Amino acid sequence: MTPLHEVIINKNTKINPIWIMRQAGRYLPEFREIRKSNPNFIKLCLNENLSSEITLQPLKRFDLDAAIIFSDILMLPYGLNQKVNFEKGFGPKLGEVNIDEMSRLDEVDFVQKIYPVYKAIQKVSSDNIIKNKNKNTIGFVGAPWTLLVYIINQQSPKKNLKKDFFKNNFLINRILLILEKFLKIHIKNQIDNGANVIQIFDSWAGLLEEKDLPNFIYSPTLNLVNYVKSLNTPVICFPREIKNYKEFCEIVKPDAVSIDYNVDPKKILKDIKIPIQGGLDPKILLTDKETIKKETIKYLDIFKNHPYIFNLGHGVLPETDPNMFEHMVNTVKNY
Ligand code: CP3
Repeated sequence: MTPLHEVIINKNTKINPIWIMRQAGRYLPEFREIRKSNPNFIKLCLNENLSSEITLQPLKRFDLDAAIIFSDILMLPYGLNQKVNFEKGFGPKLGEVNIDEMSRLDEVDFVQKIYPVYKAIQKVSSDNIIKNKNKNTIGFVGAPWTLLVYIINQQSPKKNLKKDFFKNNFLINRILLILEKFLKIHIKNQIDNGANVIQIFDSWAGLLEEKDLPNFIYSPTLNLVNYVKSLNTPVICFPREIKNYKEFCEIVKPDAVSIDYNVDPKKILKDIKIPIQGGLDPKILLTDKETIKKETIKYLDIFKNHPYIFNLGHGVLPETDPNMFEHMVNTVKNY
């Protein structure tokens, strides 16, 4: 069994597997080199040779226990024929929603449009670095709520959430139904091609008030979690900055939960019984070796009698020094 499965399925507390959100990306010079000659991010994700190579770059440098496929949660709206562009210095920019076109889309056309993502998963999961070394290939999706935010808002809500976002209830409900259908298809294809853990990223869970959580987070996510479980694959949820992780876990029941860096690790340890992942503030990697070691060990100490997967509380920052990243990985491995 892989170390990740050992912790998630067998609740092993003796080992601390490690992988990091955004472990492949801009902080690595070998990624920036490829990126320089591939300015179109979506096209890069759809190039299975390059996207599989990028996925494996961090595993060639560091002693990590899993690869997370180099893709994006916005490949889903792209597959639904919404325009998606990544603009330098701005972030994702999406086109208008054509709800009738979206409703008419069939499974074959969707899968065909993003097929290279699945080919890349096939390549990664059958690579010797993964297969012969007992490591996992992590597939992922955006949670329905976070995708809804991007689809309707057409850009990151960090910059600006449309004032009339909740006005068109009918549209919102139609999109949520479409998302449920195609997220399941996307998950199934990733698993069929070699993904053996699924993570659901709900990056904007923290935007909602408590009264809206059942409708937009609990119910649609529970639905997806049950679907992943039915495919005998462990599922990790990351409801970033949600007000109440305990309630989320009791209702949605993921196999493991990833915590953000605002969560008090000692409090969550008391609140939550399921395996826990992550937590360390990515900004710690911008400090010095001593601080990195101290903070990394702090998390390992707190969770030493709890099934725990080491990770950060959000993605690794582009300005991170790879040597500092390595120092963190080695601290976990030597613990
Ligand atoms: O974790 C991984 O390394 C796997 C690959 C991955 C990417 N994005 C690659 C990527 C994953 C899991 C994501 C998820 C994702 N994408 C989320 C959820 C997690 C989170 O960060 O909250 C969200 C909200 C997105 C949407 C998105 N994609 C944003 C906001 C950005 C940044 C845009 C910018 O200009 O800074 C992206 C681009 C993106 N996705 C990059 C990578 C490596 C950077 C691409 C580049 O410019 O080189």
